[in-house]
Amino acid sequence: MMTVQRASLLGAPGIRARKGQGQPLVMVTAYDAPTARAAAAGGVDVILVGDSLGMVVLGFEDTLHVTIEDMVRHTGAVARSQPPQLVVADLPWASYHSGPREAVNNAVRLVRAGAGAVKLEGGTKRLKVIRAVLDAEIPVMGHIGLTPQSFHAMGGHRVQGRSPAEAKLLVEDAIAISDAGCFALVIEGVPDALAAEVTRAVPVPTFGIGAGRSCDGQVLVFHDIVGLGGPRAPRFVRRYAQLETLASEAVTTWASDVRAGRFPAAGESYAH
Ligand code: KIV
Repeated sequence: MMTVQRASLLGAPGIRARKGQGQPLVMVTAYDAPTARAAAAGGVDVILVGDSLGMVVLGFEDTLHVTIEDMVRHTGAVARSQPPQLVVADLPWASYHSGPREAVNNAVRLVRAGAGAVKLEGGTKRLKVIRAVLDAEIPVMGHIGLTPQSFHAMGGHRVQGRSPAEAKLLVEDAIAISDAGCFALVIEGVPDALAAEVTRAVPVPTFGIGAGRSCDGQVLVFHDIVGLGGPRAPRFVRRYAQLETLASEAVTTWASDVRAGRFPAAGESYAH
């Protein structure tokens, strides 16, 4: 039987040390206690309280509506289920964009809620913020490529780095933020060959989402994997269960039991 290394039990430095160790790293999102319990029991290396919370759980069209209060609340819910894995929490849009002081204050709130590291989007232009958060002894995961918090500026959720000039900038961004001290990077929505080039260029693990097979690890949204993500899924998603169907079947069966007088039974009631 293959031994699965649980380097995440060591926290951010343990994840950083997995670069080049062969076995791909696995990160999945979670937003509350039940999803965190399932993710933890599934044996992932890292749990990400992503700001995809906005779409997946809160019903918004994008991540821009997610506030730091939302992230603190959901990070706490994940952490209170006490997963052994490293919990990384997203700094949401507009919680670090006005500068280092705001970024540190908000990163501290996420750590106090239970995160062991924070993730923030952007390359070279976020260096000051990344350095300040690292200076406060909080590990930072970077996120480059298709950065959903910039979707207005990018003109939509588009695959990034398709032109040679864009690709060059992306590699430079990855090197700059990993040199600054990010312990790992998410690469989202870029062509496979570019993700491979970035992965070779940086000394820290890369987690790909819609970025092909060559990253050091993969990350997906919990609800997409288990079939709770709605009818449309991006092409990089693979569904491993159909929980929405199972859940609605369970509710339908219970409703018909109630209507037919089969629920509750005597054993489901209190005699005194
Ligand atoms: O918010 C999120 O879920 C993310 C992942 C898609 C990487 O940032």
